[in-house]
Amino acid sequence: MRVGSQRRLLLFSLLQLQLLCMCLATPRYFNGFFYDDKGTGNGKKEIYFNGVRLHVETEESMVLALRGSSTVLPCWYRYEPALSAPRRIRVKWTWQAANGPEKEVLVALGSRQHSFADFKGRVHLQGHAPGEASLVIGELQLNDTGRYRCEVIDGLEDQSVTVDLALRGVVFPYQPPGGRYQLNFHDARQACEEQDSALATFEQLFWAWEEGLDWCNAGWLADGTVQYPITLSREPCGGRRLAPGIRSYGLRHRRLHRYDAFCLSSSMTGHVYFLPSSHGFNFTEALQACERGGAQIAKVGQLYAAWWFVGLDRCDAGWLADGSLRYPITRPRPNCGPSEPGVHSFGFPSQHEKHGVYCYTAH
Ligand SMILES: *[C@@H]1O[C@H](CO)[C@@H](O)[C@H](O)[C@H]1NC(C)=O
Ligand SMILES: *[C@@H]1O[C@H](CO)[C@@H](O)[C@H](O)[C@H]1NC(C)=O
Repeated sequence: MRVGSQRRLLLFSLLQLQLLCMCLATPRYFNGFFYDDKGTGNGKKEIYFNGVRLHVETEESMVLALRGSSTVLPCWYRYEPALSAPRRIRVKWTWQAANGPEKEVLVALGSRQHSFADFKGRVHLQGHAPGEASLVIGELQLNDTGRYRCEVIDGLEDQSVTVDLALRGVVFPYQPPGGRYQLNFHDARQACEEQDSALATFEQLFWAWEEGLDWCNAGWLADGTVQYPITLSREPCGGRRLAPGIRSYGLRHRRLHRYDAFCLSSSMTGHVYFLPSSHGFNFTEALQACERGGAQIAKVGQLYAAWWFVGLDRCDAGWLADGSLRYPITRPRPNCGPSEPGVHSFGFPSQHEKHGVYCYTAH
């Protein structure tokens, strides 16, 4: 399912990040407007705004970050021509999840800042330099992704730019114990959440495809479309004639249509380890064995994260929380399954069978 060595993949994603930043940085996003409030200036505190332009800009229209980390969404404002005295402005950050309503994140007036709802206590403005209105978000959660708008308000006029926040991580296809094509959109979202992950976005699936993900079953994405990534064109997967790429079924009915899911795991926190046993554990014993060690049986997303971020490599199949049996390989070798790195699966065997187990601790 995966091509190339782990190190190459990581290097590649770093390179890709740089390229992404370079090409996104080229157009400076700004919108200008003209003040024309001749009547209000008094020559002391107020400024004659005739012909002065307010610019609001960002140098990155897309920011990639890791779950659990903190990140900065850049936003800058300036006047043209430059003003000699600072003006009292208001900064407002809002956020919009995929196709959702716009919600308030933070408003700031001078040194006073107020944050809202889930963002309370996790966000503040980074005012390192004059004209900076960048937003710092801490303890990033899977559901923080989306489009953020930085709005600078001076009197009656305002200007804004948007910055998209996406999480970096590993995308994995997910099928429940019932097998292929069992999940409607809502089930798919829940299935990912149960595996400590979230439905992937199209961009994330695209990056995973660039890194070699090839999967011939269609799965739901966060925007309600159904797609699948193919790196090697072949007959049952859209045909040989179609170039490799992401194949899309477009938007499907969220309740009636059933497919697999593409989940994104983005966590570097926590620790996944294999617990061997001389006789093996059945599934119930496996749950208990992890708990005895102060841990929990690992979820599929946690095993993928450990494989992807930490390079977990273990040639032993172990139970996971959903009842599946898997093992992570970063250095393929004889007698350890396929010749490509990946998290390999034996599906969902009978829970009486005896195997090792993968456990997870948050610390
Ligand atoms: C986002 O995820 C966090 C942690 O999982 C949860 O506490 C919060 O309620 C979620 N927010 C929304 C809007 O779903
Ligand atoms: C696992 O083994 C225990 C005995 O050690 C037994 O009580 C339990 O029912 C078994 N569970 C399964 C799913 O086979």
